[in-house]
Amino acid sequence: MASLSALLLRGPSLLRPCPQLSAARTYAAGGDFKYIISEKKGKKNNVGLIQLNRPKALNALCQPLINEMNQALMTFQEDPSIGAIVLTGSEKSFAAGADIKEMSDKTLQFCYSEKLLKGWDNMSQVTKPIIAAVNGFALGGGCELALMCDIIYAGENAQFGQPEILIGTIPGGGGTQRLTRVVGKSLAMEMVLTGDRISAQEAKQAGLISKIFPVEKLVEEAIQCAEKIANNSKIVTQMAKESVNAAFETTLAEGIRLEKKLFFSTFATDDQKEGMSAFVEKRKANFKDN
Ligand code: CAA
Repeated sequence: MASLSALLLRGPSLLRPCPQLSAARTYAAGGDFKYIISEKKGKKNNVGLIQLNRPKALNALCQPLINEMNQALMTFQEDPSIGAIVLTGSEKSFAAGADIKEMSDKTLQFCYSEKLLKGWDNMSQVTKPIIAAVNGFALGGGCELALMCDIIYAGENAQFGQPEILIGTIPGGGGTQRLTRVVGKSLAMEMVLTGDRISAQEAKQAGLISKIFPVEKLVEEAIQCAEKIANNSKIVTQMAKESVNAAFETTLAEGIRLEKKLFFSTFATDDQKEGMSAFVEKRKANFKDN
């Protein structure tokens, strides 16, 4: 009979490939993209950096951009040398939302046949940690994209908002749900019902972001954080991410149960043995991601 830890390791969704992400394999990191730039960063080349690169439209999230971002995410997800991913935009705009020009004449029939916002949720299935480095506008779908990431760092000029109400619609990429869970009902309602933006400072106070940096230092700081994460055991890191995410998706009792199972599962890894032995032997752990 398989051991408990082996069964637990087989169970969690984090260890399965992402079906939505595994279809297309044509782009390599640094490949032939039109709307993004994708490259490996960090002293050990173990961080994947994706930069949204549609400056004329302030990185409005047109469908081809979303497709390219998903391609790059899939490439980093499947690359065993990559331990964490940084997603950023330009110094002026992280992303100004879904592409209003692209969607303005769409019909309900088109939307319901799942052609609108196609693939927008793929990111939430990436099991490696993703850090959003937000300078400038993070509006509508841009704010929602940041909210799908695991950590948000912001530049001093960042502005977060859900202005969809001002163009006669509501958030459709998770804004009413993820934002509300993070900042609470009153501020989320205010942002969604008025379309007002909040500053980096206000976002920090509300718990939407974890740190603020000068604009020109932001990406470098995000990469340093990603390197720190990537230097830990990749398999244990993914378990930690799955466990924290469960806090948003389950009851407390279910979350505590999952956490305990994942904690036990770490004892089936070589990295747990290495990490604890290294502590006892007073040396630095050398994780092998097993
Ligand atoms: N979609 C398409 N194009 C956009 C865009 C968007 N979301 N945001 C900006 N652009 C384009 C503008 O049309 C303009 O293009 P042109 O030069 O060809 O006219 C260019 O980017 C520069 O924009 P502005 O001239 O407006 O720049 P600004 O500095 O004066 O204002 C801004 C910047 C405050 C971000 C303003 O552009 C703006 O309000 N943008 C729309 C923000 C928004 O409503 N986002 C929500 C979209 S809906 C959504 O995201 C739904 C969802 O939940 C999934």
